[in-house]
Amino acid sequence: MTNQAPLPVNATIGILGGGQLARMLGASAAKLGFRTVFLEPGQDAPASQTCNAQIIAEYDDKTALKELASQCDVITYEFENVPASAAEFITNNNTLYPPTIALETSQDRLLEKTFLRSNGIEVAPFENIETADDLSKVLKALDGGVLKTRRFGYDGKGQRVFKNELCDAPAKVIEEMGGGPFVLEQLIAFKSEFSIIAARNVSGKVVAYDPATNVHENGILRQSTVPASLDDNTIARAKGVAENVLNALNYVGVIGIEFFETDDGLLVNEFAPRVHNSGHWTEEVCATSQFEQHIRAITGLPLGSVQRHHDCKMGNLLGSEADDIAHLLENSNVSVTLYGKSQSREGRKMGHFTELLDITS
Ligand SMILES: Nc1ncnc2c1ncn2[C@@H]1O[C@H](COP(=O)(O)OP(=O)(O)OP(=O)(O)O)[C@@H](O)[C@H]1O
Ligand SMILES: [Mg+2]
Repeated sequence: MTNQAPLPVNATIGILGGGQLARMLGASAAKLGFRTVFLEPGQDAPASQTCNAQIIAEYDDKTALKELASQCDVITYEFENVPASAAEFITNNNTLYPPTIALETSQDRLLEKTFLRSNGIEVAPFENIETADDLSKVLKALDGGVLKTRRFGYDGKGQRVFKNELCDAPAKVIEEMGGGPFVLEQLIAFKSEFSIIAARNVSGKVVAYDPATNVHENGILRQSTVPASLDDNTIARAKGVAENVLNALNYVGVIGIEFFETDDGLLVNEFAPRVHNSGHWTEEVCATSQFEQHIRAITGLPLGSVQRHHDCKMGNLLGSEADDIAHLLENSNVSVTLYGKSQSREGRKMGHFTELLDITS
């Protein structure tokens, strides 16, 4: 464990990516007196309304990465598909938090599940799939399953569910899904899905927020509810898993860990080395939001309290659902956050709302 002096006021934080997560990180950085520069190829990005400056470039543009490294005191990222070459370049020229190992592990479902298992954390039974023959054999062995591309999946994209071992044309499936490689996971009949947002700072201190029960629709998060419908034992075990993952990765920053609750215990689905959609409620409901917590962790400031002062429901606003916020705000306990995206599309995350409820536990 190391101790590191906190970054001074007006220090500059670099963010790879300019979407809604960078936008909310930028606002929290400003709150604590930091400047932010984000690197992102698109113009008019959500982060441009809260960050101080943008470097418009592709993520693997070495000249742009050099500029970012020279302008910043620490660099973070808001999405896990940062190219490995960019992460390596930043690590060699500045400080990247969360560390590259967390990024690389979460980028590849096979590496991720192998890492979790080797740290004694249970995951759904899975196998590596590279050929049509692998797919047929493993579908039989697992009696169906979820085929997932090893890399670049999000919001349920790059996945196909097989309810049983039957697959008429495995070669066609592999071709339609981009050729692979894949993992095939057993289809889990979970009782519920939930997530834990946790943080670790440079001194190795860990904090974990209360878990949220998550409901997905078409692979996209629809709603998070806090407190989660879990017993105290399960919550304690899940927080223990979060601490285990953070320590094993020598992590600095906020992480989101997704779980399945089953009749036989807990399984980790996946983790995201960043602030997480299912933790947006922390902004209105906790002493310290996940965004501020991440900024505190990566700048060497003390971590804040994760104490919750309300129960809540957080819902995503997809596509045109974000067009009429006045209607949502008629309930004075509802808070809306929009992401400033100029183009709305069906299913696109345009914002979210959090409804505050009286605290019960
Ligand atoms: N093995 C499984 N058994 C049953 N359901 C599953 C399984 N794997 C995934 N799912 C369902 O599909 C959803 C999306 O899967 P997963 O989290 O792996 O994908 P993702 O594309 O990385 O999602 P996101 O980026 O939104 O977290 C899960 O939240 C769960 O509802
Ligand atoms: Mg997921």
